[in-house]
Amino acid sequence: VEMKSSKVAVIGAGSVGATLAYNLALKGAVTEIALIDSNSEKAEAEVLDIKQGGSLGRPVNITAAGYDSCSDCRLAVITAGARQRPGESRVDLLGRNASIVKSITHSVIDSGFQGIFLVITNPVDVLTWITFKESGFPAARVIGSGTTLDSARLREYVARHCRVNPKNIHGYVLGEHGDTSFPAWSLLTIGGIHLDEFCPVCGACEDLADFKKNAAEEIRRTAYKIIEAKGSTCYAIAQAASAIVEAIVRDERRIMPISTVRVDYQGLKGTAFSFPTIVGKDGASQVLQYTLPPDEQESLLTSARFVAENIASAGY
Ligand SMILES: NC(=O)c1ccc[n+]([C@@H]2O[C@H](COP(=O)([O-])OP(=O)(O)OC[C@H]3O[C@@H](n4cnc5c(N)ncnc54)[C@H](O)[C@@H]3O)[C@@H](O)[C@H]2O)c1
Repeated sequence: VEMKSSKVAVIGAGSVGATLAYNLALKGAVTEIALIDSNSEKAEAEVLDIKQGGSLGRPVNITAAGYDSCSDCRLAVITAGARQRPGESRVDLLGRNASIVKSITHSVIDSGFQGIFLVITNPVDVLTWITFKESGFPAARVIGSGTTLDSARLREYVARHCRVNPKNIHGYVLGEHGDTSFPAWSLLTIGGIHLDEFCPVCGACEDLADFKKNAAEEIRRTAYKIIEAKGSTCYAIAQAASAIVEAIVRDERRIMPISTVRVDYQGLKGTAFSFPTIVGKDGASQVLQYTLPPDEQESLLTSARFVAENIASAGY
């Protein structure tokens, strides 16, 4: 079966998957969406609800589908599985989601799928590794959304406090998408200048060290707060996933902190974590190479090690 250049399968029609499908439909980012869920009534209802807006926005070819429709897809986005209950961490989901993602990976490849896996289900880095192992696909074609969401949160935080459009802020949260992630301040720029140089010019806020500490803390805690109040996060993650889908479908070569697998990283024989990566038609086209300052390098290694330990505990 020949791959369609912009047909995407979204597996999991829950809060994240349905919002992603809706976002892709609104943007006209893809020509075809196959929405797959073990709860087929839920998938069908989400499809109807999205389709019924077609005459008011953009009609989209979206169907509630089975795994056979993955055969000609450019991307299979995995959003199915359990989500955090209030107070639970992302790695607490591993026991529930490892077997779900394993079986989904096999169902997708059994269709003859030759595209790119994008894993969203948490804990996303460990599950990206499991998808990599179970599919046997090359590393470039198995990616996780990683800290794309956390980095968007960082840019929003800095934008709000520095009163600058978040698009003019470049910066990344790196490592695990989880409690060991950290903002790489050495890479953060506002209109091309570093935060340390921007601050004295702006003068609007507290002490810079406090600012960094508070930002890191808020970015780490924000998902917990949202889940506590509304049960799940969906809009910003759907926006992040949709941006990754577009970067691949349109071969944008956009630099994004997606999660990629590492078969040999600093002595670790199996880990996955986020680092700025060129994303294009081949998936993770190139992970950028540079050495961070020692404290950030140390944080990255700690985070990579934590993911490796969780991979091992899942039996991989
Ligand atoms: N990576 C990120 O940045 C990020 C952000 C938000 C949420 N998430 C994760 O995304 C996942 C989904 O979250 P949600 O809020 O959409 O959950 P949800 O409960 O709303 O939806 C999950 C869906 O998966 C379906 N499902 C379960 N097992 C399945 C299977 N074996 N095959 C097919 N479908 C199956 C369910 O029927 C349900 O519709 C969670 O693991 C959550 O932690 C990740």
